Amino acid sequence: MTGLRFSKLCCITHYDIAEFVIFFEYFLFFWSSILIVKFLSHFWRMFQRLQKKWGISGAQFWVIFVAFGLTGITTAFITRYITGWIGLSKETFWLWEVLVRIIMLLFGYQVVLLSYGALLGQWPFFWKYEKILLQKLGILKAEKSKSYLKTVNIAIFASGAGSNAANIIRYFKNRLDTKISLIVCNKPGAGVLEIAEKNGIPTLHIEKDRFTKGDAYLPELQKAGIDFVVLAGFLWKVSAALIAGYPNKIINIHPALLPKYGGKGMYGSKVHEAVIAAGEKESGITIHFVNEHYDEGATIFQATCTIDTADTPDQLAAKIHDLEYAHFPKQIDELLAKLAP
Ligand code: GRF
Repeated sequence: MTGLRFSKLCCITHYDIAEFVIFFEYFLFFWSSILIVKFLSHFWRMFQRLQKKWGISGAQFWVIFVAFGLTGITTAFITRYITGWIGLSKETFWLWEVLVRIIMLLFGYQVVLLSYGALLGQWPFFWKYEKILLQKLGILKAEKSKSYLKTVNIAIFASGAGSNAANIIRYFKNRLDTKISLIVCNKPGAGVLEIAEKNGIPTLHIEKDRFTKGDAYLPELQKAGIDFVVLAGFLWKVSAALIAGYPNKIINIHPALLPKYGGKGMYGSKVHEAVIAAGEKESGITIHFVNEHYDEGATIFQATCTIDTADTPDQLAAKIHDLEYAHFPKQIDELLAKLAP
């Protein structure tokens, strides 16, 4: 028996060895592929986490990634050029070369990074990146600003034409720190839904009972990561549930100078008709926090316009809209900066 085994062993030919080598190659190929896939998926997940943390789109992430890559290559190239130009070599004192490299890493790299950032249309991102870096080094005083690149997600509640929503979307379009992430609407076919679709913003249709007497769609808002709510032409009374979910984080715009001409039923042309009928010489807009009573929350901002004797409600509405477009997005922006941790 032993003899047979031994003779079999002795009969190992070079074909057998070749087969074994092939098998071993397959084995290596199989496991290295798995390792590579694991390695790549690890990086992919890391990139996704970064993208989420920075609050940027996928495309933007890759542009920023390329900017970092190009910066590394360019800085290395410039450093080599500078050391050569100064005349540093193996024969010269090594510390000089180290010093040049440190200076290039500390300053040159940042300048190149900002240049690529600007060139690739990512200036706000890289400028903020540099500011944070300087703050961390203690060179720049840490300002009370929004946390680093954490995007504030806004939900706009609207049920009308949505011209204010469109204006706010336009204002924040290229911002990394603020994003219009959801349009909430209770009226099928409302103009604002078309605006949302054009801008690729998800919409949420809401029903009155659940909104006013139920959970006010808090689970959906939280799932969408909403941090702040803006009412822009939304007529339903905001429920206690929503206010509790977003304390001091819901604002509204009213097309008159509150406390006058506000309250239940005071919306759209009704407001302007009442203002004109009362013989007012001026009207305006009020941006205010929302509480459980119609148009009664604390005022954040007001702006006025004059009313000419011949002004019709429609003409006054146009003046008011102009004020809204000029001030509403800016006020949201300023308020978010103040409320930031
Ligand atoms: C605006 O006038 C706003 O003040 C009021 O509703 C109107 C909405 O208009 N709350 P639009 O739908 O944004 O054009």
